[in-house]
Amino acid sequence: MKNNYRMRLARQEDLPALTAIYGQAVRTGRATGDLETPGAEQQRDWLAAHLPDRDPVYVAEHSGEVVGYNALSLYRGGRGAFRRTRETSYYVDSSWHRRGVASRLMDHVLAECVGFQVRSLITFVLAHNEASIAFLGGYGFRLWGRLPALAEISGVAYDHLILGRRV
Ligand SMILES: CC(C)(COP(=O)(O)OP(=O)(O)OC[C@H]1O[C@@H](n2cnc3c(N)ncnc32)[C@H](O)[C@@H]1OP(=O)(O)O)[C@@H](O)C(=O)NCCC(=O)NCCS
Repeated sequence: MKNNYRMRLARQEDLPALTAIYGQAVRTGRATGDLETPGAEQQRDWLAAHLPDRDPVYVAEHSGEVVGYNALSLYRGGRGAFRRTRETSYYVDSSWHRRGVASRLMDHVLAECVGFQVRSLITFVLAHNEASIAFLGGYGFRLWGRLPALAEISGVAYDHLILGRRV
């Protein structure tokens, strides 16, 4: 299944699809700290700030449809000591869950990180995002930090976890 997806860099034309997928994640109340889906201008700026040879955004395509994406980001703004670290954030269209999309994207990201000389990959996850934590566990990510009760969603406080692995 994993091999049915084409990996490529995200383009401006993908923004409606990326925003729709992110909007689904926002509405779950467990996948991101955003409580509202960002607007078109904000999304354009977000993508423009991700440089292909530094902190790219990759999409998974199936039959021409964008079904998920994985965005790399600099950690702490890319300060020198952290130049070999990236944060990964990934979102899959809900109608494509459990079909290997996130896995294929993560395989691709890990391979690309070698080329970028990235040594550590981290992700920030809300403690009640069981699906993402299970997914990360399968990729060898381990708990590297817990920020207690940092998030508040619908009046409930949740810990923010940092999971990481070496590339
Ligand atoms: C987490 C998420 C990205 C997983 O994407 P996916 O494409 O469904 O994942 P895959 O099909 O590659 O799953 C690989 C493995 O991860 C684990 N996994 C994935 N979803 C899971 C779930 N809901 N519950 C338990 N384990 C899960 C399983 O071990 C799975 O293997 P299996 O299907 O053979 O059992 C997806 O649920 C999603 O987009 N969630 C909303 C956004 C989000 O939470 N993003 C992460 C923010 S930190």
